[in-house]
Amino acid sequence: MKITILPGDGVGAEVTREALRVLRAIGTAFKFDIETSEGLIGGVAIRETGSPLPDETIAACLGADAVLLGAVGAPEYDHLLPGQRPEIGLLNLRKALGGYANLRPAKAFPALIDSSPLRREIFDGTDMLIVRELLGGLYFGEPRGFEGDNQAAYNTMRYSVGEIERVARIAFEAAESRGNKVTSVDKANVLETSRLWRETVTRVASEFPGVELDHLFVDACAMHLVTNPTRFDVILTENLFGDILSDEAAVLTGSLGMLSSATIGGEVDLYEPVHGSAPDIAGKNIANPIGAIASAAMLLRYTAKNEPAALAVENAIDLALANGYRTADISSKGTELVTTSEMGELIAGYLIEDVDVRRASSTV
Ligand code: NAD
Ligand code: IPM
Ligand code: MN
Repeated sequence: MKITILPGDGVGAEVTREALRVLRAIGTAFKFDIETSEGLIGGVAIRETGSPLPDETIAACLGADAVLLGAVGAPEYDHLLPGQRPEIGLLNLRKALGGYANLRPAKAFPALIDSSPLRREIFDGTDMLIVRELLGGLYFGEPRGFEGDNQAAYNTMRYSVGEIERVARIAFEAAESRGNKVTSVDKANVLETSRLWRETVTRVASEFPGVELDHLFVDACAMHLVTNPTRFDVILTENLFGDILSDEAAVLTGSLGMLSSATIGGEVDLYEPVHGSAPDIAGKNIANPIGAIASAAMLLRYTAKNEPAALAVENAIDLALANGYRTADISSKGTELVTTSEMGELIAGYLIEDVDVRRASSTV
């Protein structure tokens, strides 16, 4: 398997290092080869090449089986316009790879129930998958820009039936292997794009008679996420709504640092934690690497199609948490505080131990 690693900015480099450590451990345990190469993206790429997404990076990503990315963005570029910032490197990469469905699973980790900002009785049992449309809507709609002397600015929210259908099918297929329920989130009481979204999703639903569909307005969805998160199975929504709702869903699990993502449907799949470059904690070896490591597990599931390897990584994450190890963002009384790299080492260690134990017991 050929993987292009794009560490990017801030904590991106720190967490991808740990994800790679775990991938190497799984390669050893499951006896498959992982060939990796590293590329530049974001602020570090601007600094070294003048571009947030150099041509060599695009070529290296298109030539790989999968891309594993850390995060982009740094305060020193905050004064730049959207089209020149590190973030445009990521948006252009997503476009170049073509993945339109961004899967962001948010679920209660049993060992972390008390780290959730929600009360245990509300949060316990939460297990949802947000399917975020990733290549349309306000992020990419044209025209966009400033008017005249910058006294006004505009963006365009646009969706075609084809763009909605393809991401909806991914959501319904995902629901078929989970809880058979899709909640489509829109703003159909106000926006034409959302009317089209709702009509199209309703039509696609008829192809999946075993899956129940309901609709929520995005503002109400934001409320239900904190009052009744267990009502959700698969949430299907457009690009910007999905960006916002997934940070909200992420922190319910205890920390934004826990959430992973996979972007599928294009030429090459892209895996990245949901969090950003976290400039406030970068360079201190204290960031939570679990979102990045769980993204590597998604890579094993969706690109390598190796479910046992993906489950082994997820199980090792559970073991590290169950044994009381916590990075600062999820630490609490009675738990053991560890650094980013220690958490990576622990998870890699549990993984090898667990695979060895299972192998030994299956040969007895
Ligand atoms: P952020 O996600 O970087 O951080 C938000 C908060 O969560 C911060 O307090 C941070 O310390 C904390 N946090 C994030 N990741 C963590 C981790 N792994 N462990 C522990 N705590 C963690 O969002 P922001 O501060 O709004 O944005 C910072 C920069 O990152 C911006 O330039 C933004 O554009 C960029 N960004 C990039 C991505 C991406 O590359 N996919 C995603 C979101 C934001
Ligand atoms: C995310 C991020 C990105 C997005 C930014 C950095 C472009 O917030 O992956 O959630 O908005 O998609
Ligand atoms: Mn985001």
